[in-house]
Amino acid sequence: MHKLVIHGGLPLKGKVSIGGSKNSSLPILAATLLTPEPCILHGVPNLSDIRYMLQILQFLGAEVEFSDSTVRVQARNVQPEAPYDLVRKMRASICVLGPLLARCHQAKVSLPGGCVIGDRPIDLHLKGLSALGAEIRVEEGYIVAQCKELKGAKVELYGKFGSTVLGTDNVLMAASLARGTTLIEGAAVEPEVADLVEFLQKMGATIRGAGTRVLEIEGVEELHGAEHTVIRDRIEASTFAVAAVMTGGELLLEGAPFSHMDSVLQTLRSCGARWDITPNGIRVWTNGPLRAFQLQTEPYPGFPTDMQAQFCALACVTPGRSTVEERIFPNRFMHVSELKRMGAQIELLGNRATIEGVSHLSGAPVMASDLRASAALVLAGLVAKGKTTVHRVYHIDRGYENIDQKLQQVGAEIRREVVS
Ligand code: EPZ
Repeated sequence: MHKLVIHGGLPLKGKVSIGGSKNSSLPILAATLLTPEPCILHGVPNLSDIRYMLQILQFLGAEVEFSDSTVRVQARNVQPEAPYDLVRKMRASICVLGPLLARCHQAKVSLPGGCVIGDRPIDLHLKGLSALGAEIRVEEGYIVAQCKELKGAKVELYGKFGSTVLGTDNVLMAASLARGTTLIEGAAVEPEVADLVEFLQKMGATIRGAGTRVLEIEGVEELHGAEHTVIRDRIEASTFAVAAVMTGGELLLEGAPFSHMDSVLQTLRSCGARWDITPNGIRVWTNGPLRAFQLQTEPYPGFPTDMQAQFCALACVTPGRSTVEERIFPNRFMHVSELKRMGAQIELLGNRATIEGVSHLSGAPVMASDLRASAALVLAGLVAKGKTTVHRVYHIDRGYENIDQKLQQVGAEIRREVVS
């Protein structure tokens, strides 16, 4: 178990290299189950969530190698059961369901269970796969699915919180090997879905409409191996952009996928931060006092829910009253109570946080609860007076590779300690 010890108050200056996208790598890794041929993926971040997914692929029968951000996977033969003790570690493992059904015509995958950001239903996943002909039942905490064959169909994935990213991925992957044409309406349009489409096309899939809410997939008999470089991580880049702004520094976010970050960049501009696009990445800095802001999270291209906690931390030290409304997940304010322990002035009413900026936060021992909440606590520690100790750092290691080293390299006083 590790903790991060941070002494705040230092402006961050320098260059940060932005890694590959966790949320693109995970479904693409699942897609390698669709072929017995070798697949090679470049730019894969070395994160615990990635290592969990590789463990699952190995358990399902794949050969896996991972070194220097390149993964080589070959699923010559696949067995269709993903057990609870692997799936419970990471909800995203649900995205092996579609590929297992397509490859094996059966699947037994543990229900992902909830997580701290609230119940994580998969009704849309199951609705979509059933439409393709899968018979699905839930028994003893497992999804048990089978089909004689998958047949193309019209599928609608609109949910009450917008579409579903991994649900779109599951249906997309299953439809790639179905007989006939599938039309997905209400598909998620996150960049990570478009990256999966590109990888599937390299494998030989016939898919039209990438980046739109309507995807048309012509099923094929088989898919072949492919090589692909995953897109960079827009949430990691956005998190470091907030770090630059909060600390009053200036960072060059090397390789940042700026075209995937429009809503975050516009929000940063609205609160007085400055940025410009350079040939090497995005340069972010502040020029004078910050201004309070209002935001609500929405499906892409709206403001990403995965940046909500980080902007709450920014609002804590931004003069005036900011409001942050979470519209995607029912319980994604776990960071609020810990930020208040650092002196933040936050009032939480339902899914809306009203935040009065304070002159400074005070360092304190705080507890990470989920991936993005822990990123918010690190950001707060970077500006707080005194020492902040962030416990349960395994949460942050799920989605940020070497965050302490990257912050040290641009001037933060932060160190990782082993908790005895
Ligand atoms: C993906 O999760 C991301 N994870 C999440 O990032 C991200 O927050 C989320 O999309 C929304 O952008 C990965 O890509 C691995 P959803 P996913 O299905 O696909 C409801 C991070 O921090 N819903 O798009 O699981 C659901 O409850 C993680 O990197 C249903 O109602 O999210 C939520 O309210 C956290 N029924 C909303 O839709 C379903 O069948 C969006 O969920 C599926 C989802």
